Amino acid sequence: MRVPFDVSMIVNMGGTKGGVGISTVTANLAYVLGGPGAQLEPIGLVDVAYGTNSTVSKLFGLDPKQPGFWDFLMGRVTGREASIYVHQIYNLRMISNGSLSPDQLSWMIGELHSAARGDPDRVGSFVLSNAQELIVSKLKPYGASVVLVDLPSPVDSAVKWAFLRLASVVNVFVKAGNTHVDEAAEVLDLISIVNAQRARDGQPQLAVYAVVNQSFPNDNTVSFLKGKGPVSKFIVLPYSPFVSDRTDRGKDIAIKYDAGKGDAFFQDWRSKIINLAKEEYQVARGAAPKKRFW
Ligand SMILES: Nc1ncnc2c1ncn2[C@@H]1O[C@H](COP(=O)(O)OP(=O)(O)OP(=O)(O)O)[C@@H](O)[C@H]1O
Ligand SMILES: [Mg+2]
Repeated sequence: MRVPFDVSMIVNMGGTKGGVGISTVTANLAYVLGGPGAQLEPIGLVDVAYGTNSTVSKLFGLDPKQPGFWDFLMGRVTGREASIYVHQIYNLRMISNGSLSPDQLSWMIGELHSAARGDPDRVGSFVLSNAQELIVSKLKPYGASVVLVDLPSPVDSAVKWAFLRLASVVNVFVKAGNTHVDEAAEVLDLISIVNAQRARDGQPQLAVYAVVNQSFPNDNTVSFLKGKGPVSKFIVLPYSPFVSDRTDRGKDIAIKYDAGKGDAFFQDWRSKIINLAKEEYQVARGAAPKKRFW
């Protein structure tokens, strides 16, 4: 499908291991840009997490039974477009991950690959055109021209590829002292491949942020990523028990709490999240041409 696509996406992704903080950060960035204090146009969010109990749904209190991204992709809903639910909270317009279990999803992704006779490019193109269609039909009508995406680490690489082709900005998450060098290198390789394809098609290069999450003073996770091709900027987010307390026990958006409430690490984390959200919003807006044809 070749349609005009003038939405700028900020994609949040990781290596292969989960639990690196992608959803926590995505939800908090969304709150900065589309929460009660924000003065922007509506901000979109698409949750691509596996399974029904996603972090984004929990943090924003979304009904996990509503059909979302995966139901749409897998054609699992009748009147496909009409029945995809857009959650409206603050100034956010959100499509949740949907109602399919991880087991159903891995089976269906297997089916997609066999229908494509094992050709990952065909699966990628299928995901790309569906994601585009979903965003254009469900989020654009609300005036959302910047859309955040929570792309979980273990997701099929054809899905990663599709979102990288559509994105303007990508945050690559590594967890300090946890993400393996090879894992990060693999994601950066995929980004380089996508950047080469984008250059060939006259599409701007991705703005790539390496987000080193849950870092402690003096840890050296950053060093292996330094100087690696497509990374344009490093963001080091500190570990703060206040963040995980709010997120895990309070099931809440940590950034809602003013800096006075947490420890020094929370204050640092909080100001970095706010700056990152504002910077990436500007980069995404600047990177979006009026019309882009695939
Ligand atoms: N800066 C931080 N300080 C302390 N804890 C954090 C921080 N960032 C994330 N966490 C915690 O790390 C855990 C994993 O976070 P999260 O669920 O966002 O990761 P994820 O990459 O989305 O994982 P999944 O693979 O499950 O989707 C959570 O318990 C969360 O509260
Ligand atoms: Mg997650």
